[in-house]
Amino acid sequence: MCGVNCRWSLLPALFFLIIPNLPYFTTGDGQFSYYGFANSSVFLDGTAEILPGGLLQLTNGTTNMQAGHAFYPAPLHFGKSPNSTVVQSFSASFVFGIISTQPGISSEGIAFFIAPTMDFSGALPAQYLGLINNQNNGYSSNHIFAVELDTVQNPEFIDIDNNHVGVNINGLRSLQSSPAGFYDDSNGHIYNLSLASGNAMQVWVDYDGEAAQINVTLAPFKMAKPIKPLVSTTYNLSVVITEAAYVGLSSATGSIGSRHYILGWSFTMNGPAPAFFTAELPDLPRVPRKSARNKVLQVSVPIATATFVFLVGLAVFLLVRRRLQYAEVQEDWEVEFGPHRFTFKDLFRATEGFRNRYLLGRGGFGRVYKGVLHKSKLEIAVKRVSHESTQGIREFIAEIVSIGRLRHRNIVQLLGYCRRKGELLLVYDYMPNGSLDKYLYGHGERPSLDWMQRFRIIKGVASGLLYLHGEWEQVVIHRDVKASNVLLDEEMNGRLGDFGLARLYDHGTDMQTTHLVGTIRYLAPELVRTGKASPFTDVFAFGVFALEVACGRRPIDHRMHSNQLLLVDWVLHLWRNGSIIEALDSRIQTNYDVDEACLVLKLGLLCSHQSATARPSMWHVMQYLNRDLPFPELSSSDMVQSEAADSPVAYYQSVASNGTMSGLSGGR
Ligand SMILES: Nc1ncnc2c1ncn2[C@@H]1O[C@H](COP(=O)(O)OP(=O)(O)O)[C@@H](O)[C@H]1O
Ligand SMILES: *[C@@H]1O[C@H](CO)[C@@H](O)[C@H](O)[C@H]1NC(C)=O
Ligand SMILES: *[C@@H]1O[C@H](CO)[C@@H](O)[C@H](O)[C@H]1NC(C)=O
Ligand SMILES: *[C@@H]1O[C@H](CO)[C@@H](O)[C@H](O)[C@H]1NC(C)=O
Ligand SMILES: *[C@@H]1O[C@H](CO)[C@@H](O)[C@H](O)[C@H]1NC(C)=O
Ligand SMILES: *[C@@H]1O[C@H](CO)[C@@H](O)[C@H](O)[C@H]1NC(C)=O
Ligand SMILES: *[C@@H]1O[C@H](CO)[C@@H](O)[C@H](O)[C@H]1NC(C)=O
Repeated sequence: MCGVNCRWSLLPALFFLIIPNLPYFTTGDGQFSYYGFANSSVFLDGTAEILPGGLLQLTNGTTNMQAGHAFYPAPLHFGKSPNSTVVQSFSASFVFGIISTQPGISSEGIAFFIAPTMDFSGALPAQYLGLINNQNNGYSSNHIFAVELDTVQNPEFIDIDNNHVGVNINGLRSLQSSPAGFYDDSNGHIYNLSLASGNAMQVWVDYDGEAAQINVTLAPFKMAKPIKPLVSTTYNLSVVITEAAYVGLSSATGSIGSRHYILGWSFTMNGPAPAFFTAELPDLPRVPRKSARNKVLQVSVPIATATFVFLVGLAVFLLVRRRLQYAEVQEDWEVEFGPHRFTFKDLFRATEGFRNRYLLGRGGFGRVYKGVLHKSKLEIAVKRVSHESTQGIREFIAEIVSIGRLRHRNIVQLLGYCRRKGELLLVYDYMPNGSLDKYLYGHGERPSLDWMQRFRIIKGVASGLLYLHGEWEQVVIHRDVKASNVLLDEEMNGRLGDFGLARLYDHGTDMQTTHLVGTIRYLAPELVRTGKASPFTDVFAFGVFALEVACGRRPIDHRMHSNQLLLVDWVLHLWRNGSIIEALDSRIQTNYDVDEACLVLKLGLLCSHQSATARPSMWHVMQYLNRDLPFPELSSSDMVQSEAADSPVAYYQSVASNGTMSGLSGGR
């Protein structure tokens, strides 16, 4: 007999001439491909039918206990040579989908098979998969090789579970089987698949005639074929498959109606089965059933409406909240400061919503947060200053912005500001090493500073103050020179921060009351008396600061005897006793220049002289520190300190013991 080789040899050419867009083709050498089944020659029986879209439906799910088959309509020759009974290698592949009509359970399954006949009228549905019946299970006369995709666990066939792939010979008891799944090529892990999930999956069946090896591989549709097969077994199919045999797909349902679909199917003798061009396969139907649709609508419409209303409400709520959250105050006059103005949103983002985690510290004016600007990735410090009155804010911001133009290596750069109701946010360069006071009095949290570092910081602060007082186009009075306002950059340079802030309280509040700004320990006596700040009041504060850094002691130390309460008095006392160097911080061990240390201590005393006129200017201070000018020959008696007639010491003491006075920023 001639068989498929002769009968189909001319057909491909004919098909392409007559119906060029045919969705399948066949060739004479035992190969076929169906990319969808529209107008295909596939032979069907039972419940099998081709749906308008080209989908092959083996069972339709409405009636139970049904079976359907699809065959490649001609027998193929499996023999190695025309009269040989040795079965050659072959590959088959198909894409299927199982849609169960009841969630979670399905019946029965799909089988790919090779059999000597297309007549399966004697086969039973349900667990027999439309392949055999209760009489002939396992008989070698069946000559059936099958791969089952089984969604029911049948004890009589010793099924492993209700979701497995098995290789069957002549019957339904699997030679080998495995739970449905696939091996991941990259890590070798097995991933489970649910056959009745309603998703399309692809199966490859490969037989190697030389090695008698059967491999079955499963994967979600559109995934490349996994290298490792799910089921691999050896069985010499030469003793099973007849020389001329039909290739088919079978499907059956039991008491539960499932729908079984085939999207594409291909086969090759002696070679890999043609792959599916994914775009050309029909789609699986959607899962919801007609009978359930009304119920679904009854429930889903009110839910959908409620959800919609809720979502609209939520959106409005979020929008309003966002507005409030990011709300700023901006007035017309601020336009000229445009480049210096930050949006609250940017600052909110930079600090991740002013999280406590980013809190750098709390100062006399408010909390300071660390942040990173979203776009520039610039590290910033944001100071949130609350202020009640809006009076004077304009002048203050004008001043802040003009100060923002100051640029000096010993000044913390002000980058800009943002204004909200009752709140002002000032944005500075971030100083990674924090404030100096933590190094001086921190309880071990920061390392102590050596003399070189201290001297460099003192010189740096002096240089910054000199710049503010004279080197810039206008005289700027800092008003709040103190250790906690000196920040350290990455190179441990001292930088003055917070200048001008004091003015906020000058402008902002009630002008009737005399209002002093600064930190009491650093206030020059004439400032206490008149409330008038001048460069000399800054020099006074600088003197106290220099002593503080050199001695590692607070300007007012309650642990000391009353005559040594003030740091200035104590250093002066040591000078008189000829041992001024003893004032030096004991943590500065040996590595220091005695002359330099004495210079700083004496300069500190001179700067914090009671009489403003006795104090040097910052220019002189700088000259002394650089040794460009010799420090004047002074004796300790020139430093009239608390003995002065209008001594503020009593005042200081009363203030110090009461903590802070209204109008005074207490400091730490
Ligand atoms: N630009 C900055 N970079 C890093 N840390 C800062 C910066 N500004 C302030 N801080 C930190 O925040 C704390 C409080 O700052 P601040 O409000 O200036 O204190 P005070 O009001 O006592 O001068 C400081 O001790 C410091 O640790
Ligand atoms: C199938 O055949 C019908 C007519 O016989 C034709 O209208 C239709 O386009 C064909 N479908 C495909 C996919 O070739
Ligand atoms: C399903 O198939 C059965 C048997 O062929 C038929 O009686 C029934 O009408 C079909 N149902 C649908 C929805 O096609
Ligand atoms: C195959 O067998 C037939 C008869 O069974 C014989 O006529 C034919 O010559 C054989 N062909 C080959 C190639 O052996
Ligand atoms: C996969 O399926 C097997 C058998 O059904 C089961 O033992 C295993 O727990 C499943 N694994 C996962 C990850 O679900
Ligand atoms: C079966 O899979 C193994 C890998 O597990 C492979 O070595 C062998 O060549 C495969 N055989 C066929 C027929 O695909
Ligand atoms: C399979 O069986 C046939 C005879 O039935 C034999 O000729 C062939 O060598 C066998 N193949 C393998 C791989 O054992």
